[in-house]
Amino acid sequence: MNESYLKKLPFAGKIVVATLLLSIGIGFTSAIVNLHFQSANAGQPLPGPEETVSEFHGSKKYSHIERLLIANETKPFNGSGSMRSAFTSKRAGGIKRAIKEKRILLTELAEEKLKDKPEELAKEISRIGNDPEVEKLVYQDIDGERIALLAWIKNGYKKEYYENSQLQGYPLTGALDSLKISPPMVHITEDGSQRFANIEGIIESRCVRCHDANAGGSAANFPLNTYEEFTDYCAPEKSSAKSLEKLALSSHVHLLGFAMLYGITGFCLAMTGFPNFLKVIIAPSALIIQVIEISCWWFARMDEPLGPLFASAIPVLGGLVALGLLSQILFSLWDMFEISGRKFIITLLIIGAIFGGIIGIKVILPYLKEEAGQVEN
Ligand code: HEC
Repeated sequence: MNESYLKKLPFAGKIVVATLLLSIGIGFTSAIVNLHFQSANAGQPLPGPEETVSEFHGSKKYSHIERLLIANETKPFNGSGSMRSAFTSKRAGGIKRAIKEKRILLTELAEEKLKDKPEELAKEISRIGNDPEVEKLVYQDIDGERIALLAWIKNGYKKEYYENSQLQGYPLTGALDSLKISPPMVHITEDGSQRFANIEGIIESRCVRCHDANAGGSAANFPLNTYEEFTDYCAPEKSSAKSLEKLALSSHVHLLGFAMLYGITGFCLAMTGFPNFLKVIIAPSALIIQVIEISCWWFARMDEPLGPLFASAIPVLGGLVALGLLSQILFSLWDMFEISGRKFIITLLIIGAIFGGIIGIKVILPYLKEEAGQVEN
């Protein structure tokens, strides 16, 4: 072991360095939360290669409308953000009526099921009348409309399914077999064997409400009343990469701001008593990898095949930066203290891990699940 300079710090100095390291760790975690909202698709914890390619290189995978309906509803409600909230509690209309109808439907089903048990039936009916879960079911149904609409677009937005919506519509088969979707938007064959989604009806009630040439407001400038108007937005388009201004801004914020932090954590590790070869690799790692990662942001703008290749390296490099930072913080804390201090730090980390685990299971996972809606088709 080398001599440790961190150990030589006066106690107050150690406390300051330790809290600084922990704060940087917490700050980095909140940067990751921010990354989720900025770049990940709904339901996804962090952006993967697919998202970074579309963000830094541009992609041809989705049409304008698909992008608007997949994007997180926290993005701005406009043509470059998200229209997803047309299907959520934020902007979906007719909720009161839908809840009322859902209660009626559930009551009818209960009457059918419990027709020989009047007491249980009475209980069940009063439960349905007050159950707040019914509202959730309604939103689930409404999100089903979104999923059906996306499936229709993805499978070629055929006019026959749109035009026949009053009669039949888009067949809900395969992965959509068990899709929960608002009853008024579904047509079921006589024998009950096949369901169809009323695409025109969904567009009419969820989009044309605002996107009507005769309505007021800015959305009226982009009418979606007819098949032609709607499908104008359905062809896969090359979404452009992040603008140069934005790229320059986040490059310099990262290079200056984060470099400062990684410099501090790396320097702390360099002052520890760990073997030189380890320190030489880990101490500057976050700084070096960050420079490589940010270079990739720029190289990602190159033409295929190189551009997308650089873009897909971004999540991996970002992960390595996080790993470097984490080991710098942990190793430095470990080295700085003796037995009792280490025990204290470990206890603190265990409490943090348990707390993080609980938040992960109780809050983050359900949140992501809800965000993703049902089976994304
Ligand atoms: C509550 C009103 C409202 C609803 C409902 C709504 N939108 Fe929008 N939409 C807007 C507004 C406002 C804009 C921004 C218009 C502007 O740029 O001035 C917009 C923009 C758009 C654009 C971009 C138009 C362009 O060429 O720039 C598309 C595409 C779009 N919406 C599709 C949809 C779809 C599909 C639905 C239904 C799922 C929908 N919208 C539901 C209000 C709405």
